[in-house]
Amino acid sequence: MEKTIDEKKQGNTLVLDQNDKNTKKLFIESYGCAMNFSDSEIVASILDEQGYNTTSKLEDADLVLVNTCSIRDKAEQTVRKRLEKYNAVKRTNPKMKVGVLGCMAERLKSKFLEEEKIVDLVVGPDAYKDLPNLLAEVEEGHDAINVVLSKDETYGDVSPVRLNSNGVTAFVSITRGCDNMCTFCVVPFTRGRERSRDPQSIIEEINDLWSKGYKEITLLGQNVDSYLWYGGGLKKDFSKASDIQKATAVDFSKLLQICAEAQPKMRIRFSTSNPQDMSLEVIKTMAKYKNICNHIHLPVQSGSDRILKAMNRLHTRKEYFTLIDNIKTIIPDCAISQDMIAGFPTETEEDHQDTLSLMEYVKYNFGYMFTYSERPGTLAERKLDDDIPEAVKSRRLKEIIELQLKHSELRTREHLGKTVEVLIERESKKSKEQWSGRTEKNLVAVFPKGNYKIGDFVNVKVTDCTKATLIGEAVGEAE
Ligand code: SAH
Ligand code: F3S
Repeated sequence: MEKTIDEKKQGNTLVLDQNDKNTKKLFIESYGCAMNFSDSEIVASILDEQGYNTTSKLEDADLVLVNTCSIRDKAEQTVRKRLEKYNAVKRTNPKMKVGVLGCMAERLKSKFLEEEKIVDLVVGPDAYKDLPNLLAEVEEGHDAINVVLSKDETYGDVSPVRLNSNGVTAFVSITRGCDNMCTFCVVPFTRGRERSRDPQSIIEEINDLWSKGYKEITLLGQNVDSYLWYGGGLKKDFSKASDIQKATAVDFSKLLQICAEAQPKMRIRFSTSNPQDMSLEVIKTMAKYKNICNHIHLPVQSGSDRILKAMNRLHTRKEYFTLIDNIKTIIPDCAISQDMIAGFPTETEEDHQDTLSLMEYVKYNFGYMFTYSERPGTLAERKLDDDIPEAVKSRRLKEIIELQLKHSELRTREHLGKTVEVLIERESKKSKEQWSGRTEKNLVAVFPKGNYKIGDFVNVKVTDCTKATLIGEAVGEAE
């Protein structure tokens, strides 16, 4: 997608649009989590400085970059298939260069260059600032690789180029890496140690987005609740920080508060929260500020204490219920969503039933559910046999999904007859006469366009619904 002048900002000064000067074309695509999509916007910004404009046509590209995901084997297979496609295009455009970014680059390192002949460039998630040098090497005819992980890189000083943007919602990354070491998860290995971004640069990005017409941001991190800024560096070194650093430290609830106050009309979301790190302060801050959306993505993975322990999730089923109860007490109308894994090693039918009964207790608004996929190098891969047959994993997953669909429908139907605030994001896919937007609980709502436009906050009276979409009519602009 071509950029507009507006999207080219460096620090606080708007620089003249240099699109005309950019002669090279970058095709960049992302797989996996929101963080990857956000990282691609950082990469596009770094390459803009190198004379690249983005293109949505693979055939036109001088440089093709794929930002990859390693979370499950299937995600990696998808990327391998895309490389085949690039290969076919390269036959007609031999000068085209191909680079692999993200978690697969970090996991496979130079193996990528050996296994996939088409790949010229391998760059891990913390090495994007080295892209200009790496590309210079590629220009000289060498393969190039940088997969060094960092203890302090947050890209806080890079102003992202928004890609495929609706102009209304944007991601703002606040932490990188993860220190939690869940035994099934490859992320700590591919994204390195957890570090937090300077709150000042976060606020500047949010202010900049607001000035460009954006109305909703999602603060991103693998584990946002452990955000801690005391001047930079790893969280574990906080104990060595000076008294002044400790006194002025900003934790996640404080960051939420600063963001909510900096732009009181901007909707604020965040993702993801690991239950073991979520504090009461965060929930209270959500309750205090109207512009922080009442939705918490709170992955639990399993309802069985034994499996939670084997996963190194540092809370029990009971503690999770206490957290849910606290959320519902402080924010009675809070939407809660989940991630679940079916068929973790040693999972019995009883463990599986514990997962279903936990879901019955919470009745999540929605969820992301998967069968367990063994990932090389993780603790689970090294210590446990992947001993649940695929057929059993799939059957358990099906039961989990069916229950979730039932709960999602129930949660959707709770809105019938009520009026909800909707932020308009786009035209409805089903009708040109209708707008589509989301409620603060992240539920899609469609309604006749009237005189409203994209980016408006509108009160919508819900008259009907499908399983996961509200249908209604606008009853006025929200204040
Ligand atoms: N904190 C992260 C979680 C990253 S992974 C976040 O911000 O989303 C996203 C989800 O993928 C996890 O919550 C988990 O449910 C799932 N997942 C991770 N590793 C997996 C594996 N090895 N097999 C199956 N699902 C996995
Ligand atoms: Fe992965 Fe657990 Fe961190 S799921 S990203 S190790 S919180």
